Amino acid sequence: MTLPILDAMAQEGFEKVLAVHDRHSGLRAFVAIHNTARGPAFGGVRRFAYRDEHDSLMDCMRLARAMTYKCALADLPAGGGKVVVLESGGEDWEGAYRHLGGIVEQLGGTFYTGPDVGTGEQELRWMTGRTSYVTDPGEGGPGLLPECTAQGVFFGIGAALRHLDGEEDWAARKIVVQGLGSVGTVLARLLLAEGAQVLGADLDEERGQSVAAELGLEHLDASTVLDQECDVLAPCAMGGLVHDLTLDRLGCRIVAGAANNVLARSLHGDELHDRGILLVPDFVLNSGALIRGAHFHLDARRVEPEEIGRGVGQTVQGILERASEQNAPPTRVAAAIAEERIASWDLTQPTSAP
Ligand code: NAI
Repeated sequence: MTLPILDAMAQEGFEKVLAVHDRHSGLRAFVAIHNTARGPAFGGVRRFAYRDEHDSLMDCMRLARAMTYKCALADLPAGGGKVVVLESGGEDWEGAYRHLGGIVEQLGGTFYTGPDVGTGEQELRWMTGRTSYVTDPGEGGPGLLPECTAQGVFFGIGAALRHLDGEEDWAARKIVVQGLGSVGTVLARLLLAEGAQVLGADLDEERGQSVAAELGLEHLDASTVLDQECDVLAPCAMGGLVHDLTLDRLGCRIVAGAANNVLARSLHGDELHDRGILLVPDFVLNSGALIRGAHFHLDARRVEPEEIGRGVGQTVQGILERASEQNAPPTRVAAAIAEERIASWDLTQPTSAP
């Protein structure tokens, strides 16, 4: 092993990283627990065709740390964790996910997991047979996760519009939704209900056309979303949208969506700020599902999506106000707030990790 894992853990404040292999199913996975100072760690299972083992471990750690930031900003008694499963692990996925469920169970409630890229209802069902610390995709689970995320994005967009223009004035807004999947479709519906002009695109052309026809929104070619002159671009597909080659193309005033890691690198957030484009931090906007899941598991409550959305909107408002006062990019301000809070947990709370 050439990776300086312990150094990386110490540098970023990680508590635990597990490397998991199962010789029966072929499962190859990493589990990273970033912070349990304030409560158990939360984070989904990502299954992806990583280039190599090093990339998968780095992604696992980056995503786990981001979950701690999300929890801090949402003021949840929880921290961040993550699982990544290497696609190269084998073909017995049922066996692999069952084994993973057993590993999560062994963590004894210090880590709760759920869906992410590559892990949907089927995989979660396989895991629920082995552990109760996983999101049940059926009646027994929190439910309405995309709805909660979409409500957070919706109220966050409202806060951004009020911040720039003093009012939402939905009827005068042109909003482009990139990705008409679970979250993008609900978001588009909420925006249309307020009277906004909504344009949408999906890489899956057939899906995009069918959602557009169902909701009555304007359908765009997926390759043109960045160039649209509009009030808001809402990325609800994949991350890495804003980078050196796309910055000049952006025709929006606000970027605010559900996709994780919209910026290819943090300096692109500074670049947007310099250009007068308001980027609302994705790790605040898309925390609705986490908030719903954490309350469900920790205090047996199903908080209504709209209530969750309102809370996210208020958090966004506070961050944008502070960013204006400091004339700093909102993403940097949000990260600084999260870091302050995380540092204060370490001072006041004993760790709950075994
Ligand atoms: P989804 O998989 O249901 O939908 C994503 C859609 O984007 C798909 O229909 C896909 O065809 C489309 N797409 C992919 N690349 C595209 C491109 N370049 N242009 C246009 N469309 C493209 O995913 P979901 O659940 O709606 O999530 C959307 C994003 O929000 C993801 O990045 C996810 O990680 C993030 N997110 C979702 C949460 C949730 O509650 N579902 C919670 C937090 C973050």
